[in-house]
Amino acid sequence: MNVSGEQIRELLEGLKKSENEKEISPKYFYDERGSQLFDKITRLPEYYPTDTEIDIMRSNIDEIVELIGPKASIIEFGAGSSVKVRILLENLRELAAFVPVDISEDHLLAAAEEMRKEFPDVPIHPVAADFTKPFDLPSPEVTPIRNIVFFPGSTIGNFTEDDALELLKVMHHEAGEGGALLIGVDLQKDPKIIEDAYNDSQGVTAEFNRNMLRHLNREFGADFDVSSFKHDARYDEDEGRVVLRLISEKRQAVNIGGEEVTIAKNEGILTEYSHKYTLEGFAAMAAAAGFRVEKVWTDPERLFSVQFLVRD
Ligand code: AVJ
Repeated sequence: MNVSGEQIRELLEGLKKSENEKEISPKYFYDERGSQLFDKITRLPEYYPTDTEIDIMRSNIDEIVELIGPKASIIEFGAGSSVKVRILLENLRELAAFVPVDISEDHLLAAAEEMRKEFPDVPIHPVAADFTKPFDLPSPEVTPIRNIVFFPGSTIGNFTEDDALELLKVMHHEAGEGGALLIGVDLQKDPKIIEDAYNDSQGVTAEFNRNMLRHLNREFGADFDVSSFKHDARYDEDEGRVVLRLISEKRQAVNIGGEEVTIAKNEGILTEYSHKYTLEGFAAMAAAAGFRVEKVWTDPERLFSVQFLVRD
């Protein structure tokens, strides 16, 4: 990720907030080590979302293919090389295009190259863009019958409800006339299951959380004393979200972007929300963005959902 003045300003804005209101955007989790740690999280026994979503997609792939129809263009919001999009590309017929959209150009182009080797018959048109704002779509040789926006992983859960609604509106716009959205949405459930998923016994999530500070130290010349921060993740049942924080076990002054910020002893910095939805709650938000829920698939325990939303 390139260091820009804009990024520094945004970081400082979050870190200069008053005690216990400080925050760092979850996008800073994902340097190389952070991506490796996240991969490791997806394989943890406690972290149910990944395996459950993959199982749901595999078990219902015939119906998914049927609903999407032929000659679609798959627009994936985010990376574009995971096992989930492969399930689609392996099964859909006569794809007009696969369009992975990601802010990290290097990562995006490397992933697209990999996919071209694996799917030589699928036209692949990567787009380097911040998908939270409207962007231009490429024009594939074969005009797609419809655009299908694909947003797996319950990444929608990282956004506050206001921002999630805005993002759904961008997806609605990119899907265009007759388009649809295939999205993974994590569900509200027994808080114990959720809390365990974010407090794994091997401490991988704790390391993932702390690694954000290592990333900032390296990339932004900051000097957080990383080992003095403790991982904290709890599920707020009223808000329906997991709140991840890093709690400083001592008072410390941190230099970042030429400024100094003070973090109090036992002060927490917010690093991530992971919202969990009810089916009704998600449908209401989707409706506000102009989508109608056409189909919801879940696992037998109703841990997770994959949903097919069409434009009204
Ligand atoms: C990638 C945002 C879906 O919220 O579960 C996993 C990230 N954070 N463990 C999630 C994450 C801690 C993950 N998402």
